[in-house]
Amino acid sequence: MSGTRIVIMGPPGCGKGTQAKQLETAFSFVQLSTGDMLRAAISSRTEIGLKAKTVMDAGQLVSDDIMIDMISKRLDEPDCANGFILDGFPRTVAQAEGLESMLSKKEIALDAVVEVRVPDEKLVERITGRFTCSKCGEGYHDTFKKPISEGACDKCKGTEFSRRSDDNEETVKSRLKAYHDQTAPLLPFYEEKGFLRVVDGDQGMDAVTTEIKRVFEG
Ligand code: AP5
Repeated sequence: MSGTRIVIMGPPGCGKGTQAKQLETAFSFVQLSTGDMLRAAISSRTEIGLKAKTVMDAGQLVSDDIMIDMISKRLDEPDCANGFILDGFPRTVAQAEGLESMLSKKEIALDAVVEVRVPDEKLVERITGRFTCSKCGEGYHDTFKKPISEGACDKCKGTEFSRRSDDNEETVKSRLKAYHDQTAPLLPFYEEKGFLRVVDGDQGMDAVTTEIKRVFEG
């Protein structure tokens, strides 16, 4: 197994998914989004999906056992051999320890943990304005990233769009609380290990990408 291995962290709506997709294209490593994996499990009505739906709609975290097992299986797939960017995992200290042990079994290590820092008061607007092309999954925003021609996806010209069921103001507050209580403690955990790189996420999307790329290009 070779390649670059990164974790991208930050509160809901800070731009993890947006940036992970940019980096996937720029560096040819695969984006592993646990949120996307769970939403796919919900759409396919698997047992995990059924369990996860209620938890996600309440803005809480799905259990560590389920998440560690999901990522462990995914990392065994061949496309992860060229490197990966973990988006949304780990989210608790138990998940970070689980990741450490699965990587050490494969005799590999993380290269960096990138924290995308955005003040809480900016996040509700980012999340409640988000929508996605139902056909190709391209992400948009009511204010910050509108399709070039209204009502049609820039990428695939699809005309159906959807919004996530957990993207409402009330659930966002619970998701933010879960982030501060359970995920933010990972920042000192990774800082002590020398992995943490902080990026200012409170600027335009392209400027954030440039700053993250600078982390890797030295
Ligand atoms: P997940 O899907 O991971 O959601 P999240 O962490 O809440 O993050 P989001 O996807 O909402 O935001 P993002 O940071 O990716 O921002 P985005 O780029 O879209 O998880 C959902 C749920 O699944 C969790 O609540 C939990 O229940 C469960 N779950 C997932 N993983 C788990 C785990 N490991 N353990 C337990 N439970 C787990 O950007 C947001 C919007 O802002 C977009 O519209 C975008 O266009 C816009 N935008 C992005 N960057 C900028 C910018 N720089 N300026 C202006 N607008 C911007």
